[in-house]
Amino acid sequence: MNKLLLLLIIVSSFFHLETGKGQQRKSDNILIVYLSRTNNTKAVAQMIQEEVGGHLVGLELENPYPKDYDAIVKQVAKENESGFLPPLKTKVNMDNYDTLFLGFPTWGMQLPPPMKSFLHENDLSGKTIIPFNTHAGYGEGSSFETIKKLCNESKVLEGFSIKGGAERDGILLAIKDDRATDAKSLIEKWLKKIGILQ
Ligand SMILES: Cc1cc2nc3c(=O)[nH]c(=O)nc-3n(C[C@H](O)[C@H](O)[C@H](O)COP(=O)(O)O)c2cc1C
Repeated sequence: MNKLLLLLIIVSSFFHLETGKGQQRKSDNILIVYLSRTNNTKAVAQMIQEEVGGHLVGLELENPYPKDYDAIVKQVAKENESGFLPPLKTKVNMDNYDTLFLGFPTWGMQLPPPMKSFLHENDLSGKTIIPFNTHAGYGEGSSFETIKKLCNESKVLEGFSIKGGAERDGILLAIKDDRATDAKSLIEKWLKKIGILQ
């Protein structure tokens, strides 16, 4: 009798382990890369990870941007004008992933230069790309369109955009408390709409 019980326990724990591995393997294919200065986009990235799993990577630059708001605005405007691609410290091996969530704030109504660098540095052909964005009230600008243009050999799904902070007015992390609860439910709806969640 005891032997039978032991056998049942061994068999059921084997099945349990197998299911666990299966779930792990599915979300192992997902990479969530984000750029965030005042943590709004990071908050959204973490919420996406809570829903879909995967690996979370914050983009870091070789030469970080100035802390001063006016200085970064000026620098980004220059970079956007000249097409300068700031070198990245963060390196990823895309061979390990087939789905890439890409998160960034709107900067000068465009895709931030470090995200342009990321798209130039990595071969994303054949991958599924899912953009997400935070902004100060003016929307994603041309960023989603730029991703589609730069990644014309990838499958780019409908992006998600939500109001974040407004550093210009001294509002840094705004996606917290009630705004975080609202963001979470909007993210869940969006992930269902694009077929990532059931
Ligand atoms: C250099 C710079 C440029 C920005 N340009 C815009 C803009 O054009 N439109 C907008 O709505 N918000 C703009 N913002 C505000 C950010 O998009 C917004 O605060 C966002 O939530 C910040 O995300 P983060 O906390 O992840 O850094 C800008 C912020 C910075 C630092």
